[in-house]
Amino acid sequence: MRIAMIGTGYVGLVSGACFSEFGTEVVCVDRDANKIERLNDGQIPIFEPGLEDLVARNESAGRLSFTTDMKAAVQGCDAVFIAVGTPSRRGDGHADLTYVYDAAREIAAAADPETVVVTKSTVPVGTGREVEQILQETAPDKRLQVASNPEFLREGSAIGDFMRPDRVIIGAETQRAQTVLRALYRPLYLIETPIIFTSLETSELTKYAANAFLATKITFINEIADLCEAVGADVHDVARGMGLDGRIGRKFLHAGPGYGGSCFPKDTLALTRTAQQAGSPTRIVETVVDVNDRRKSAMADKIIAHMGGDVAGKTVALLGVTFKPNTDDMRESPSLAVVPALQQAGARVRAHDPEGMQAAQELLSDVTWCQEPYEAMQGADALVILTEWNQFRNLNLSRIKETLNAPTVVDLRNIYDPTEMWEQGFHYTCIGRAFGRDKPGALIGDGTTREDLG
Ligand code: UDX
Repeated sequence: MRIAMIGTGYVGLVSGACFSEFGTEVVCVDRDANKIERLNDGQIPIFEPGLEDLVARNESAGRLSFTTDMKAAVQGCDAVFIAVGTPSRRGDGHADLTYVYDAAREIAAAADPETVVVTKSTVPVGTGREVEQILQETAPDKRLQVASNPEFLREGSAIGDFMRPDRVIIGAETQRAQTVLRALYRPLYLIETPIIFTSLETSELTKYAANAFLATKITFINEIADLCEAVGADVHDVARGMGLDGRIGRKFLHAGPGYGGSCFPKDTLALTRTAQQAGSPTRIVETVVDVNDRRKSAMADKIIAHMGGDVAGKTVALLGVTFKPNTDDMRESPSLAVVPALQQAGARVRAHDPEGMQAAQELLSDVTWCQEPYEAMQGADALVILTEWNQFRNLNLSRIKETLNAPTVVDLRNIYDPTEMWEQGFHYTCIGRAFGRDKPGALIGDGTTREDLG
């Protein structure tokens, strides 16, 4: 089998490398000559655990290559995957499909007859049909086939997600398209991965529905966390108690500062637009989008309130600026709302992130970037945890206290144990874990009372 992967962004690069690991010959194509040159030099443009090794191994085995020459790349391919960007269109929130349609035209002009053209980018319902039309118009005699195969990988665990997915969704309505995709995913049949064949529209909608559902789950627990704070309950236990119900499931019930990243914000918004346009609005998702947007800026208010209501002239040490750990991706990160809001309120910000500082420097101004966590805490009046990188979980609490001006901690990812933090004398707050600590005699965690803590 031979395939071309058009677009070497997150999805394209990871999928291309993983397909080559499955034994398929893969040519990755990008218009960005600089990026291709760097990839050919073994430089990976994103931080993704394991990707560099995977690319190097398959490149040297001769199964993976990179080029800007789309025409040469698509020739002789069984399938060509479109994995180009589909950014939110300025103004209306619709997914911008210019790159997808341009790619379809170019592929149609150059591909061999009967090549299967697969959309891997997250594309709104109806895009596959449009691509089919473009292929037909551009190369009416080639009998090019269209398929939809959305990708569900997460940044930071992308390779594992691709190689051992919960399921694969394939929208393919012709025998040829089904046969080619079945052959490409053969290694996953061997590990009994459910592979669902369906229509183009159903496949496209499944991806949006899954992302919107997960975004809703997060937003739901975030609101429950706020309610926990208001009534003195512990969202950690609520989430556990809910999640142990197999119908609900434990995953994606971690309360935090609001979801970010390259997918959830863009895809939820695009789904609401598609639904409105189809005359069948998704009002729950519309609300999720709104609640999540507000939440990110509300996090700055939470920090300010915990620091006494006025941060003018104060310094905040911020750990983690990426939208989640194990990535250098800053897209729609809560830090993009929190940092400017703190600065607007007169605070100085010192920050550290293990991988995201380079990207962040272009997006956040007037931040003092620090090489390690304790350096960020020097002279700071509070510590804020904004992304749950593993290396922040085991920081030395005594050293934190010694380094900060005041032992004030705002933990927006719930990585510390509140009881321990209070016992250690921290002025500590987190998300949704008040659990009645203000009530006299109230049990806090494992049998400890507020009085025990002094
Ligand atoms: C997501 C989907 O998980 C993936 O299937 C899709 O292909 C792309 O979008 P990704 O954006 O890489 O993947 O990250 P994910 O781990 O899903 O986290 C998304 C956001 O939700 C992050 O900001 C994260 O911090 C937040 N989140 C996630 C929570 O706040 N709580 C949770 O319980 C889970």
